[in-house]
Amino acid sequence: MDARSFPLMIAIDGPAASGKSTLARRLAEALGYLYFDTGVLYRAVTWAALQRGLSPRDEAAMTRLASELAIDVRPPSQADGRSNDVWVDGQDVTWAIRSPEVDAWVAAVAAHPGVRQALLEVQRRIGRQGRVVMVGRDIGTVVLPEADFKIYLDASLEERARRRYEELRARGQPVSFDEVLARMRARDRTDAGRSVAPLRPAPDAWVLVTDGLTPDQVFTRVWDVLQRRAAPHPSDGAEAS
Ligand code: CDP
Repeated sequence: MDARSFPLMIAIDGPAASGKSTLARRLAEALGYLYFDTGVLYRAVTWAALQRGLSPRDEAAMTRLASELAIDVRPPSQADGRSNDVWVDGQDVTWAIRSPEVDAWVAAVAAHPGVRQALLEVQRRIGRQGRVVMVGRDIGTVVLPEADFKIYLDASLEERARRRYEELRARGQPVSFDEVLARMRARDRTDAGRSVAPLRPAPDAWVLVTDGLTPDQVFTRVWDVLQRRAAPHPSDGAEAS
C-alpha cells in the first residue's frame, strides 16, 4: 500500500493508561511518522513547579512557568524503555516527570486555562507539519481538530490502574495498587471536569475500548481501520465509527 494515502495527522486521545502511547509509538514506527506525546509538556511544567517550590494551584505562576520553561524533547539517548529524552533546566527529566508526585499534581496544573494556552502553539506547530501521531487528551478536539484520523482509546478504571501499577512497580516505584487506583480516579475527574479542553472523544473520533486486548490486538484493529480508510472500498460505506 502507498504510505502517502494514509492520514497525515493522527490524533490519539483518552484517559491515563488506556494504551495511547504504546499504540502511537507503533503506528508512528509503521508509518515512518513523528511520535509526539503532549503529556510530557504538562508533566515537565508540573515537575519544574514542584522543584521550584511553586504552588501547582497558583494559575498565574503556572502560566508564567509554562510560557517561560524551555522543554526539550529529543530522540532517546538510552535504551531503557524511553521513547524520547525530555530535558528541562539542563537536566534529563525523562523519568522524573513520571513520578507519583508529578502524577498527583499534573491534572491540576493542566486544568489552568493559561497553562493550556501557553502550550497550545508549540503543539500545533509540530502537529501541522503533518506525518505525525500526536497523543494527549484534547488533540482531536482542540489542538488538531483538522486531524484526518482521530482515535479515542478507553478502558475501565480498574484495568488502567492495573497497567499503571505494573509499570510503576517494574520501574521500582514503591506504590500500592489502591493508591494508584485512587490517584487515577482523581486525575480522570479533573481531566474530564475542567472548563477548558476537557477529556472527551471528538464527535468524529473512532472509539476503541481496550479492556482485555493486548497491545498487538489494539494495533491490529487500528491498522485495519487505517488500511480501509486509506483505500476506501464502496462496500465500506457502512463501516462502524
Ligand atoms: O501517561 P498518562 O496517560 O498517565 O498521562 P499523560 O498523557 O502523560 O498526561 C498527564 C496529564 O497531562 C493528564 O492527566 C492531563 O491532565 C494532562 N494532559 C492534558 O491535559 N492534555 C494533553 N493533551 C496531554 C496531557
